[in-house]
Amino acid sequence: MMEDLSLHVLDIAENAVAAGATRVAILINENERRDALTILVRDNGRGMSRRTLRRALDPFFSTKGKATGLGLPLLAQAAEQSGGRLSIRTTPGQGTKVTVRFRFHHIDRPPLTRMAATLAALIFGHADVGFFYRHRRNGLVFRYDGSRLRNLPSTTAGIGPELIRTVTGELRVGLKRIGRT
Ligand SMILES: Nc1ncnc2c1ncn2[C@@H]1O[C@H](COP(=O)(O)OP(=O)(O)OP(=O)(O)O)[C@@H](O)[C@H]1O
Ligand SMILES: [Mg+2]
Repeated sequence: MMEDLSLHVLDIAENAVAAGATRVAILINENERRDALTILVRDNGRGMSRRTLRRALDPFFSTKGKATGLGLPLLAQAAEQSGGRLSIRTTPGQGTKVTVRFRFHHIDRPPLTRMAATLAALIFGHADVGFFYRHRRNGLVFRYDGSRLRNLPSTTAGIGPELIRTVTGELRVGLKRIGRT
């Protein structure tokens, strides 16, 4: 079991990148009053055929040349164990939307932490992909448009330790304002 929802977000976003997406939106919505936590990851990748979609939640199915594909099944299981569910909408050639709902206050809901580090890993791990992040939490909202960092040259003026520190800092400050890390 994955102990933190940020690891699931990482996996679902990595799926989008593997599907050839150039844009990935990660939308998180926490509403304690409504006892709801929703994670939505939308991409403009190649989408899934009907056959792939049918088997996407099978832990022994992957189109990546390996015996197991655990990302989606583990997340679906985590959601179901905390009173929620996972759903997938996909159109071949257009993209995919994965929505996961949890009951916020359910005792078995994994925590959501370390999103700043997760987002930085995605943004700098895939410099050719534009990541958009929006996190609502009980009426507060943090947005981060990582697409302005797309295709920067890997020179000192572009992606380097300096920029990575700056962006990670911006993410931490923004998330802290809404009470997250
Ligand atoms: N965003 C997506 N766009 C297109 N196909 C997807 C997407 N997400 C998942 N898939 C398809 O569903 C399959 C299962 O995904 P899942 O994350 O469960 O396993 P995996 O990515 O293959 O392996 P693992 O997550 O264990 O590394 C993938 O192999 C891929 O064919
Ligand atoms: Mg995966």
